[in-house]
Amino acid sequence: MSQSLTLALSKGRILDDTLPLLAAAGILPAEDISKSRKLIFDTNLPGVRLLVIRATDVPTYVELGAADLGVSGKDVLMEHGGSGMYEPLDLKIAVCKLMTASLKGSVQPEGRRRVATKFIKTAKRWYAEQGIQVDLIKLYGGMELAPIMGLADEIVDIVDTGKTLVANGLEAREFIADISSRLVVNRASMKMKYQQIQPLLDRLRLAVEQRSAASA
Ligand code: ATP
Ligand code: PRP
Repeated sequence: MSQSLTLALSKGRILDDTLPLLAAAGILPAEDISKSRKLIFDTNLPGVRLLVIRATDVPTYVELGAADLGVSGKDVLMEHGGSGMYEPLDLKIAVCKLMTASLKGSVQPEGRRRVATKFIKTAKRWYAEQGIQVDLIKLYGGMELAPIMGLADEIVDIVDTGKTLVANGLEAREFIADISSRLVVNRASMKMKYQQIQPLLDRLRLAVEQRSAASA
């Protein structure tokens, strides 16, 4: 008997790239997600449903088993730090880098550095590895403003085209990590629902490969 399968999707920019991948893997929402205020969607596959939630909440749903699978940015996964999930597939969407950045041409202070970021745990780990002492300042967005207003000496943020940095007079400094969205799977679900999850994983893997081949 087939059990139900719940896939948690990150809303926002990742969702736009996730839906075509799901479609290529044969998973179609029963209604137009972009035109609905609903948070749960049935699909064309019996028992398979989609949750559309805040990107930062996806690891929590998957780790605690409220969703079997999820699509989550590597930045969000690194910050979440959970161990209750497998990460079997790089979906190669929302590709960007996590970097430090500061005002163009600025020199870092001799002593402790003030660093603004929404990635507090990741930044704490990375600066400790570099042997750099920092005071971390938690922000929720628009990190580029912090050095301009004298709130911080440096930021840790996502860089893609680099246009946001340039537009605000900042420059990228140190590379921290390559980021893309990953498929994550709850550990218990992987065991209990393997028969359902495995074919889905195979179809998604193929969809990722076809997408990469088409853009090469
Ligand atoms: P929330 O609203 O939950 O705080 P958010 O505003 O960070 O999330 P998005 O801006 O939609 O959400 O970004 C979601 C994910 O997309 C990020 O976690 C990261 O993995 C990726 N991402 C963010 N900015 C970029 C970018 N400029 N280019 C490519 N991918 C990006
Ligand atoms: C993200 C990120 C940078 C920007 C980088 O911001 O935080 O600000 O994209 O992209 P770029 O290098 O191509 O300019 P987002 O648009 O998600 O807004 P946010 O600050 O609210 O997270």
